[in-house]
Amino acid sequence: MEAIQSGFTAVILAAGEGTRMKSAHPKVVHEVLGQPMVCWVVDAARKAGATRIVVVVGNGADEVEALFAGSPDVECVMQSERLGTGHAVKVAIESARIFDGRVLVLCGDTPLLKASTLSSLVKAAADPSCKGGTLLTMTYDDPTGYGRVMCKNDMMAYRIIEQKDCTPEQAKWNVCNAGVYCFDAQQLHIHIGDLTCSNSQHEFYLTDMIELLYNAGTPMKPFRIPDADELMGANSRIQLAEANKTMQKRINNQLMAQGVSMLDPDQVWVGPNVTIGKDTMLLPGTMLMGYTSIGTECLIGPQTRLTNTKVGDFCTVDETVADQATIGNYVSCGPRAYLRPGAVLMDGSKAGTHVEIKKSVIGPKSKVPHLSYIGDCTIGSNVNIGAGTITCNYNGKFKNPTTIGDNSFIGSDTMLVAPVNVGSDCTIGAGSVITKDVPNGSLSLERTEQRIVEGWLPRWARKEREPEPEVSQEQETAPAPAEENKSETMSE
Ligand code: UD1
Ligand code: CA
Repeated sequence: MEAIQSGFTAVILAAGEGTRMKSAHPKVVHEVLGQPMVCWVVDAARKAGATRIVVVVGNGADEVEALFAGSPDVECVMQSERLGTGHAVKVAIESARIFDGRVLVLCGDTPLLKASTLSSLVKAAADPSCKGGTLLTMTYDDPTGYGRVMCKNDMMAYRIIEQKDCTPEQAKWNVCNAGVYCFDAQQLHIHIGDLTCSNSQHEFYLTDMIELLYNAGTPMKPFRIPDADELMGANSRIQLAEANKTMQKRINNQLMAQGVSMLDPDQVWVGPNVTIGKDTMLLPGTMLMGYTSIGTECLIGPQTRLTNTKVGDFCTVDETVADQATIGNYVSCGPRAYLRPGAVLMDGSKAGTHVEIKKSVIGPKSKVPHLSYIGDCTIGSNVNIGAGTITCNYNGKFKNPTTIGDNSFIGSDTMLVAPVNVGSDCTIGAGSVITKDVPNGSLSLERTEQRIVEGWLPRWARKEREPEPEVSQEQETAPAPAEENKSETMSE
């Protein structure tokens, strides 16, 4: 991985609204591969070595703040009025009291920016010539929209001119400001109060700091990014989709380089916090999100979505949806399994076709092969659950548990009415409704006795099938036997 810079502060600007997104939510919470854009930026800053991360929030502040509720290294500061990027940084350094060291400033809507790029920018700022710090630049054939970075002969940046303030001559200059800076915090703090809003947009431009610092004898040095695609901002839904595609490719290429196979990488979507072992194959329609981990030699997909799920080695997970499930080694899931939070499938177990499992342990080598719902249940080892078996775990008010001991055999279409315990080495007859605990080694059977009614086929049907027998007038009009009539009424 990239070299880690020791201890600097990152300020991430995320107060903007993002009108082009046409959304009820702030721009930076829109997701790239299942992770909000601003979290990508926070992660990159953290990986590059930021020990303190300050996020400037404004529009939809609650939604942005909520993303970092569990992150002790991230603090959010409120910019109540959007008066420009310079104002946003001023609010950050004053509220979070950032007065020394280096401060990396970046935007919350550039999810593709790599930690290694940030780390290089910070490293470059350590050069004694960069008294004010460094700023990231790129060159575009069409630089329209970006601030233009002007340099002196000493290679230091002396001014940034925003697009809207450019003369036609200046607009031809194609060295662009990426909006990513590594400032000397002390210098930033000294001069930020001198920013004014005397420009075409009447905003406090952070970019004016470059000129202030140059004139103070503490200039900033431009640092050109090799791959300008990293700076792609996602301002609209179309750009967001493009960012997803770019990130998909980046992650999939990395996984394939590490020994993961994909039949068609365009149809595989893997989030940033997913780990996958060698010789695992991902088939089309696979989405692996959140903190999902997959071991070695697994076959995942097609049509499989795993979120915050752990899968061991040598598993087959076919057409499966799983959320917060734990799957051991040599486990087979699907096709069409639904594993809900707390589903634990131990080594060698199986959750087969049209099987739903919630908050339950399926013990080693136990099998739930077909058409079952297993909820709030603890199953031992070597248990076979017959097709159509259901744990009736909910009585309309409370969820109740079921336990099934080792080596038990549950017949097909059994209803286990919880709370109920089935011991080990038990057999339950097919079609039983089990309401009482079943002791170890016993057979339990609950069903009404089968009735057989002979000669049931109605006479008219019999007539169609067989040639009409020679019968007397008397027999023809005789009433049906009493037994037959009774059965007919019962079955209605
Ligand atoms: C900015 C730079 C420009 C650069 C471009 C790169 C300035 C004045 N210009 O322009 O030189 O080429 O980035 O993308 O800085 N924000 C706040 N609070 C505010 C204003 C903005 O948090 O009061 C946030 C926005 O949410 C956004 C970021 O700062 O994430 C950039 O602001 P924006 O106004 O979009 O700047 P640009 O016009 O893109
Ligand atoms: Ca029954």
